[in-house]
Amino acid sequence: MVKESKTRCIGILTSGGDCPGLNAAIRAITKTAINVYGMTVLGFMDGFRGLVENRIIHLENNTVSGILTNGGTILGTSRDKLHKMPMGNKIIDMTDVAIENLRQNHIDCLVCLGGNGTQKNALRLHQAGNVNVLTLPKTIDNDVAGTEITFGYDTAMQIATDAIDRLHTTATSHHRIIVCEIMGNKSGWLTLGAGVAGGADVILIPEIPYDISVVVNYLLERRRKGSRFSIIAIAEGAVSIDDENKKAKIQKKAKVKSKKQNDSSDTTENNNDEIAVSSHNIFEESKASIIAKQLQKLTGIEARVTSLGHIQRGGVPSAFDRTLCTLLGTKAAELLASGIYNVMVSYKADSCIPVPLEKIAGIHKTVPLDHPLIISARLVGTCLGNK
Ligand code: F6P
Repeated sequence: MVKESKTRCIGILTSGGDCPGLNAAIRAITKTAINVYGMTVLGFMDGFRGLVENRIIHLENNTVSGILTNGGTILGTSRDKLHKMPMGNKIIDMTDVAIENLRQNHIDCLVCLGGNGTQKNALRLHQAGNVNVLTLPKTIDNDVAGTEITFGYDTAMQIATDAIDRLHTTATSHHRIIVCEIMGNKSGWLTLGAGVAGGADVILIPEIPYDISVVVNYLLERRRKGSRFSIIAIAEGAVSIDDENKKAKIQKKAKVKSKKQNDSSDTTENNNDEIAVSSHNIFEESKASIIAKQLQKLTGIEARVTSLGHIQRGGVPSAFDRTLCTLLGTKAAELLASGIYNVMVSYKADSCIPVPLEKIAGIHKTVPLDHPLIISARLVGTCLGNK
């Protein structure tokens, strides 16, 4: 017998960069929603774009059977936002179309699985159309506010740690510096976690702008003491103190520019800058490559670069992520059945709790400078790029 539910029909979408655990979460929501509460579950393909284009699949028990261990997302994903969606060569606000599609499909609540951008987009949709939304925190970056951990992070940290382990053996054999670039544009959780777990000698994260001379002196001192190799874990968003000052100026200009754009009409001509919808710029020389060149020149020690890139987001989820997604997904269905909407299901102190979306959307959770992992890293002699 099914339990009473205030929600009869839900839509699910996955949005932003994919990560291991999305399928486990889709499975947990769907199974609980259907089997325990008798809900109808629809899946929108490719994030918010599928919602606008009304591309739907019915999620049933057999659709989600066997997907617990699969990486990626059976629903597909995109970085599209409703209020600024590229349509042909224009960027158009498609929020009204999305609201109408939800209404026509009799959806009581839209469940959005995603990172920071998704939390913001879900809140915007709720505010624009008084539509019910509920979100789950997903990203390998672990930078969503209001939750202790996001799913995908644990798996990615293991992948990056394995990579650092492997780099150790080759760096030792060749007596080289190896710089390993790890994802994380605005926060260094992944680099710090994998760097500490893999015993990197230097860990550089966006929260601590580095002084290149501190890193150079540290590497030379290591060599003087007899270490014949060094591993540097660097986040893709790490910045030097000099670059940080330049960045502040650029951001100020960009803010003024975006204000001007917002003040003009919603329907604007598309351009290539706007197509690069993730903060990850594939056309720029990587931080790892820049710093490796500098270090080779300044230390006289041969350097190499490894960029882990999307390998960190691929493959099967870890046991931890599978269990986390099952906990978050089943809790989501329980909240939906109770008619609790416009919240993110967060993970705190071993339990899943709803936090109001408006309290967390748009806030990046960065690594606090007094975080225990930063303190421990320093205690074991790791260089964090500053004095
Ligand atoms: O948002 C997660 C993330 O993996 C970031 O760490 C990275 O900067 C970005 O996605 C890469 O995005 P894309 O796959 O769109 O290039």
